[in-house]
Amino acid sequence: MKQILVTGGTGYIGSHTTVELQNAGYEVIIVDNLSNSSIEVLDGIEKITGIRPVFEQFDLIEKDKVNAFFTKYPKIMAIIHFAASKAVGESVEKPLLYYRNNLLSLINILEGQIKYGVPNIVFSSSCTVYGQPDILPVTEKTPRKDAESPYGNTKRVNEDILHDTIAANPQIKGIALRYFNPVGAHPSALIGELPLGIPANLIPFVTQTAAGLRSELKVFGDDYDTIDGSAVRDYINVVDLAKAHVVAVNRLIGNKNKAAYEIFNLGTGNGVSVLEIVNTFEKVTGIKLNYKIVPRRAGDIEKIWADTTLANEDLGWKAETGLEETLLSAWLWEKKLRGIN
Ligand code: NAD
Ligand code: WQD
Repeated sequence: MKQILVTGGTGYIGSHTTVELQNAGYEVIIVDNLSNSSIEVLDGIEKITGIRPVFEQFDLIEKDKVNAFFTKYPKIMAIIHFAASKAVGESVEKPLLYYRNNLLSLINILEGQIKYGVPNIVFSSSCTVYGQPDILPVTEKTPRKDAESPYGNTKRVNEDILHDTIAANPQIKGIALRYFNPVGAHPSALIGELPLGIPANLIPFVTQTAAGLRSELKVFGDDYDTIDGSAVRDYINVVDLAKAHVVAVNRLIGNKNKAAYEIFNLGTGNGVSVLEIVNTFEKVTGIKLNYKIVPRRAGDIEKIWADTTLANEDLGWKAETGLEETLLSAWLWEKKLRGIN
C-alpha cells in the first residue's frame, strides 16, 4: 500500500482527509503534536473507515525528530502538510509563535523530504493570500496582496518557500491548495471541528449558539456592498475539500501534474453572505438563531469567492455538497459533541 504522511492529521481538515485517503486505499501515517487536536480523533477515523491510522506524536519544529521520522518510514510517497497554527487573532498578538511554528515546520519537512527522497508534497494554503481582491471571482492568477495578519503572511511566505525549493530541487514536486472557508463535518458525525474556547469562525459560533453554549451570534457588519450588507465568503464542505487532497496526491504520484509546482483554488464558486448562512441554518435545523448586527470586525474583507475553473477542469475536482447539507452536518456534529438529541 502506498504510504502518505499527513501532518496535522488529527486536526479538522487532516482527519477528514485521512478518512478519504484510507477509503481510496492509501496507508496514512499521521504526525501531530496534539497542540490543537485530541487523540480521540483516531477513534472516529477508525469507526468510519475500519482502519486506525499509524500515529506519531511530536512537534515538527524539532528537526531531529522529523529526520528520525523519515528514517523510520523510508517508503513515504507523498506528504500532505496541514500542521500549522491557524488562529488569525492570536497571530496578531503572538507573531513570532506563528512564524516559528508555521515556517520552521515546513522548512523541516522540506529538508527531510529532500534528504530522504520523498518525491511529493501537498501544502495547505488559504484564500487569505488574496486579501480583498479587486476582481471577483478570484483565479489562481489573481495577484496576492499584503497579508492582513501574521498568520496570513505565513501562508504567503510558505508558498514562496515551497515554490523556491521545488525550483531548486527537480526531484520534488508540489501542489499548494488555497482553501476558501472550510465548514461542516463528516456526515457520520464521528469527526468534525473542535474549536478551543470561544470560536472565532462563523459556523462553530452558529452551532454553539444553537446548542445554547453562546447566548447570541454577533453578525459583524451589515453595511458592506453585498446582497444584504453582510460579508460574503465561499463556504466549502470539509469532506469535499478532503477529497481534493486525494485527487492532488493521485495527480502527483501518477505524474499527471503539468508543472513541478502547481496552485489550485478550492471553493464552491458561490459567494454566500453571513445572513444567508443564518437563514439557511434556521431553515434546515428549524432552530431560531438569536443574532444581533454589530459593527464590522477589524481586518475582515468584504467579499470573496473562488473561480473554480482550474480545479474543476485541470485538477478534475468539484465541490459537490450543497450548503444546506453542509450546515446540517455541522449541526449534527455539534449535537453529538453536546449530547443533544
Ligand atoms: P487544525 O488546527 O484543526 O489542524 C492542524 C493540526 O496541526 C492540529 O491537529 C495541530 O495539533 C497540529 N499542529 C500544529 N502545529 C504543529 C507542529 N508544530 N507539529 C505537529 N503538529 C502540529 O487546523 P485545520 O483547520 O485542520 O487546518 C489545517 C491546515 O489548513 C492549516 O495549515 C491551516 O492553516 C489551513 N487552512 C485552514 C483553514 C480553515 O479555515 N480551517 C482555511 C485555510 C487554510
Ligand atoms: C466568516 C464571516 C465574519 C464570526 C478566516 C481566516 C482565513 C481562513 C478562514 C485560514 C466573516 C463573519 C464570523 C462571527 C460573524 N483561515 N462572522 N460573526 O474571516 O472569512 O476567514 O477563516 O486560512 O484566513 O481569516 O472566516 O469564519 O471567521 O468569518 O459575523 O461570530 O463570518 O465577519 O464575514 P474568515 P470566519
